[in-house]
Amino acid sequence: MIRLGTSAADLGRAAAIIKAGGLAIFPTETVYGLGADAFNTHALARVFDVKGRPRFDPLIIHIAGFSALERIADLDALGSPERLLLEKLAKKFWPGPLTFVLPKRPEVPDLATAALPTAAIRFPSQSAAQKLIELSGGAVAAPSANRFGRISPTRAEHAVAELGDAADCIIDGGPCSVGVESTVLSIQGGLKILRPGGISREQIEELAGPLPEGNGISANLNVPQDTTQRTGIIISGNKAATMEEGEPAASPGMLKSHYAPERPLFFYGSDVMQALPCCPEDGYLFFSGTSRKTWAARTGAPDTDRIITLSESGDAVEAAARLFEYLRLLDGKGVRRIHAEALPEKGIGAAVNDRLRRAAG
Ligand code: TXA
Ligand code: MG
Repeated sequence: MIRLGTSAADLGRAAAIIKAGGLAIFPTETVYGLGADAFNTHALARVFDVKGRPRFDPLIIHIAGFSALERIADLDALGSPERLLLEKLAKKFWPGPLTFVLPKRPEVPDLATAALPTAAIRFPSQSAAQKLIELSGGAVAAPSANRFGRISPTRAEHAVAELGDAADCIIDGGPCSVGVESTVLSIQGGLKILRPGGISREQIEELAGPLPEGNGISANLNVPQDTTQRTGIIISGNKAATMEEGEPAASPGMLKSHYAPERPLFFYGSDVMQALPCCPEDGYLFFSGTSRKTWAARTGAPDTDRIITLSESGDAVEAAARLFEYLRLLDGKGVRRIHAEALPEKGIGAAVNDRLRRAAG
């Protein structure tokens, strides 16, 4: 596997690899992606094989400009209110961590969309990603560059740890600034958040009006209630691969177990987290410095690198950027299990909670 930086020459090399049907791991503002030419079925098949991803789980097609949208999406299949809404949302949030699920053009390979009549399309803001996509022909299908069901990579070395040298090249663009995946938003028949992510429900509602209750999956996220049940939320990482396999999923990012570390992870509301005892062999992931200090004062927990804070100041954006890296860090320390605290269920905190909940299964 060729290791590259983000110079024009390196991006050109990576693009040549994609154009020739190869696979390139590349940075985006959310997580690293495993990219292939969206119109090359042989390359797409390799993406699924390398990730160990079931073929029913469709890929996101990355574009590098507004005009490329119509190469993938059949916008004539949208009603005019839907089309206006799409234009409004794209104008506001593109380029950026928002993916639209739209009716697809017949030329888009079934393999990319898992034979769905729709395609997921995203215009990332990261500049190396934009240049790579443009030089590669304008349509790069890319899932996150991790093995199926595992923690998404937010640094080049994470992607290497996940996939070894199975891709043909990797572009190291440093750490990802957003740190959780894009929000997946379905447009047809009313807006629906299929996966909470880098653009929050509140940001979308500010532009599009209130999303109906029960819309998408974020509406089901009642963190404190669910997480007070201490039993039955443990699940180990390797269970992810068999989970709901073969079942058609509206958006397979909705699989219950996903983003999973090797170690069992428990996910709690703040109040329950505060009530936990300190077990020296366990790992703890606190949202804020205050939360960690309060707990440590009560339990007499020592200062160790197994007790980690996502954001000293309790900033959800910072917490999101660090989430996957810190989960990976705790996982690597050989802790017996990981206890993770929920963020306030608003803004990007909803996406962080979604990932932690799925990491817990
Ligand atoms: O931030 C991101 O979105 C990253 C970076 C690399 O761009 N990509 C990413 O891809 O997270 P992946 O494959 O890990 O997740 C794609 C999500 C899955 O939940 C998939 O089910 C959903 O998008 N998806 C793709 N096509 C869809 C479709 N036609 N209908 C509904 N959901 C779809
Ligand atoms: Mg993924």
